[in-house]
Amino acid sequence: MMIDSRRCCAPHRVLVGGLLVIAASLSACSKKEPSQSDATPDTAAQVHPEIWPQPTQPAIDDSGIQSRLDELMSSLSVEEKVGQIIQADLCCVTPEDVREYRLGSILVGGNSGPDRDDLAPAPKWLEAADAFYLASMDDSGGKHAIPILWGVDAVHGHNNIIGATFFPHNIGLGATRNPELMERIGAVTARELRVTGQEWTFAPTIAVVQDIHWGRSYESYSENPEIYPEYATAMVRGLQGEPGAEDFLRGEHVIATAKHYIGDGGTLEGRDQGDTRASEADLRDIHGAGYPAAIGAGVQVVMTSFSSWQGHKVHGHKGLITDVLKERMGFDGFVVGDWNAHGQVEGCTNASCAATINAGLDMFMAPDDWKALYGNTLEQVRSGEIPMERLDDAVRRILRVKLRSGLFEAGRPSTRAPAGQFDLLGSPEHRAVARQAVRESLVLLKNANGVLPLKPNMRVLVAGDGADNIPKQNGGWTLTWQGTGITNAHFPNAESVYAGIAAAVKAGGGSATLSPSGAYATKPDVAIVVYGEDPYAEFQGDVVTLDYKPGDDSDLELLKRLKAANVPVVSVFLSGRPMWVNPELNASDAFVAAWLPGSEGRGIADVLFAKTDGAVNHDFKGKLSFSWPRTPYQTKADPGSEPPLFPYGFGLTYADEGALETLSEEIPSEAESATSTRVYFAAGKPAAGWTLTAGANGARTTLQNATGSAADGVLTVTTIDHAAQEDARLASWSGAGAATLALQGATPIDLQREANGQLSIAFNYRVDAAPSENAELAIECGEQCRGAFPIAEHLRKAPQGEWQELKILLQCFQENGADMRNVTAPFAVSTQGTLRLGIANVRLETGVSDAIGCD
Ligand code: BGC
Ligand code: BGC
Repeated sequence: MMIDSRRCCAPHRVLVGGLLVIAASLSACSKKEPSQSDATPDTAAQVHPEIWPQPTQPAIDDSGIQSRLDELMSSLSVEEKVGQIIQADLCCVTPEDVREYRLGSILVGGNSGPDRDDLAPAPKWLEAADAFYLASMDDSGGKHAIPILWGVDAVHGHNNIIGATFFPHNIGLGATRNPELMERIGAVTARELRVTGQEWTFAPTIAVVQDIHWGRSYESYSENPEIYPEYATAMVRGLQGEPGAEDFLRGEHVIATAKHYIGDGGTLEGRDQGDTRASEADLRDIHGAGYPAAIGAGVQVVMTSFSSWQGHKVHGHKGLITDVLKERMGFDGFVVGDWNAHGQVEGCTNASCAATINAGLDMFMAPDDWKALYGNTLEQVRSGEIPMERLDDAVRRILRVKLRSGLFEAGRPSTRAPAGQFDLLGSPEHRAVARQAVRESLVLLKNANGVLPLKPNMRVLVAGDGADNIPKQNGGWTLTWQGTGITNAHFPNAESVYAGIAAAVKAGGGSATLSPSGAYATKPDVAIVVYGEDPYAEFQGDVVTLDYKPGDDSDLELLKRLKAANVPVVSVFLSGRPMWVNPELNASDAFVAAWLPGSEGRGIADVLFAKTDGAVNHDFKGKLSFSWPRTPYQTKADPGSEPPLFPYGFGLTYADEGALETLSEEIPSEAESATSTRVYFAAGKPAAGWTLTAGANGARTTLQNATGSAADGVLTVTTIDHAAQEDARLASWSGAGAATLALQGATPIDLQREANGQLSIAFNYRVDAAPSENAELAIECGEQCRGAFPIAEHLRKAPQGEWQELKILLQCFQENGADMRNVTAPFAVSTQGTLRLGIANVRLETGVSDAIGCD
């Protein structure tokens, strides 16, 4: 049954410190509405391997490695074997650790880098690769030298490296419908990886995303399974080379990973790490569409998904991992887990999870807790909880990949060509491939009166905050995990959209003026306005509405202003997914969906501008790989009764009539009533779905206008100012008894993902009178359910009368008993003493460095 998101999942807007925040309840709806989960998961989550495909196996010749593999297997100690199945993150592991624990692998997650520097320069990567390799090859004391594997998220080029070539994210590549190009992109990415000494990428993502509310939609090629067989084949080939060929997995090739197996793109409402309730047939035909091809192309690693299928975490699902993937589909590489995802399997923690190995996982991704996990796993093998045959199978699979890729003979990473040839990073040849990908990924949605192509001798105004903003055109997974905290200066080998336009018009005798605000002195012939989503990755990009920037009309006003001045307007929209942009479409003469194009802004000018003689230079080739929503909530998963605004496959060329009727700009009024999941109190009032209550335990009174008095005057709340007039509250506890001030909701919300993702509850506060006794901040989860955190000390230390900010990790409340899946009050302050406390802007926040931890 479909969930009607129109009624319960709709967005609303709130102002936080001048910023607009959109929020609504995802979890609330899944609770209220009946759904497929009502089917008993245990039956629903059973697999029938015989209905799954049996791909033709790649022609990999293992005859040369077989005896070596057998010999190794018979000589390794159990400690060495357990070391092989563990992968630690560079944040938390040293070459010394590798020497001691014989770890099989390390990774660099989105936020780490050599020397604890996320932005470490390329040579540092190569140095680190050597250091870890040498540690792994140290065979002193009777240990066995086994080369370590270094894995990294090279998901749109070697995207952790300053100066690398950054390709469009997968959603743009899907629009090119050009598998041959995928193979070349894979090859370039592999070569750049080898320059810095890594031999393994966690790519390609072959998620078939059905609900673009998901923050990882841009990592998906398409909502339609049809393009996956060819795409998966091409990308795996490009990265790994041809099975059977001499340079398969070596030389300029690397090991690829098909991820995230399986159903990652099918979670309910597009929730990150959520539950996919597809039937087994849909799991196979939609979400599994790329796996047989990837296996057939010889992919050596499959990464399991954080998500669940029918309520069961894939990481613990033996049927899916062992029976289907390994046995039925014949996958003989190894299965790596996702970032601490094993800790989410029932009965497991990040430091202990026999269940996932027993289900068929071969390598734990255990970034920070690897040492404890090592100890526990060793114990579980010794006790027989993990059968020795299972451990042996896992180790054999890992070693087989290491042998197949020639790692044992390869020598130090820096001695393997093309390592150290840093000028290959972002080389002209590589960037030309990326620029072609940009050109072919652009989808033209509107072109009224033939405004495009533009003549290169025009006077062009280039406006919008995306015009000269390379981080924004790259999105997440770019130098940093979220793609934030970086500037154009971090991209020595890249061109912004503006720079590309400037070069094109300069060559054509025109002029380009950069003016993000759209102001100009001389009237331009045309304005190109570049705007769109700001960078995000994973759950931080989950949204509850596809409405582009609700409540913030700055981009729209810019378009309208230009139009009112009779300047033709070309929108270049940067985004990780299709969005509801009807007002922007109406206000533009031409509209180009440019996705997240990467380092080659020039590819956009290539298509927008004609040759000097007016002939088309490059035509639009891109076709939508996701349907474009007619409403702010329409997705493939929940299409409603009307067709999409632009269907899958849509994309104009210069030969097409590109006018578009005026589109409805109305947002359904039901869209106002949902619960805010990330903001609870802002702009002087509780956010949608929340009320401010006060009272002694059990008897809480809702404070109208968030002011008043309760519990016989023990607690009184009045308005005060923080950043604006009456945007905060002053709560005064009299000391005549215990009382609680809480933000309470009618519908519980699910903050489990936020807690796992290290989000914090944050608020601004001002201590007017310090607490005389203990004071607590709690997260409540229904009657008798709460997790509390002591705050009296913090409040006492704060300078009185001055606004401060406090940020406490959600995990702390969870550890102290809060059920994060069922949060009824995300903020409840209690004391029985006296206290006068000002409070403003209660919300969730990312970032751990300034947050208070739990002990
Ligand atoms: C992501 C994976 C990624 C891994 C390592 C996880 O959070 O889900 O796609 O490969 O981190 O960075
Ligand atoms: C992500 C990693 C990332 C890390 C940063 C994880 O949730 O999956 O890829 O590096 O967070 O702390």
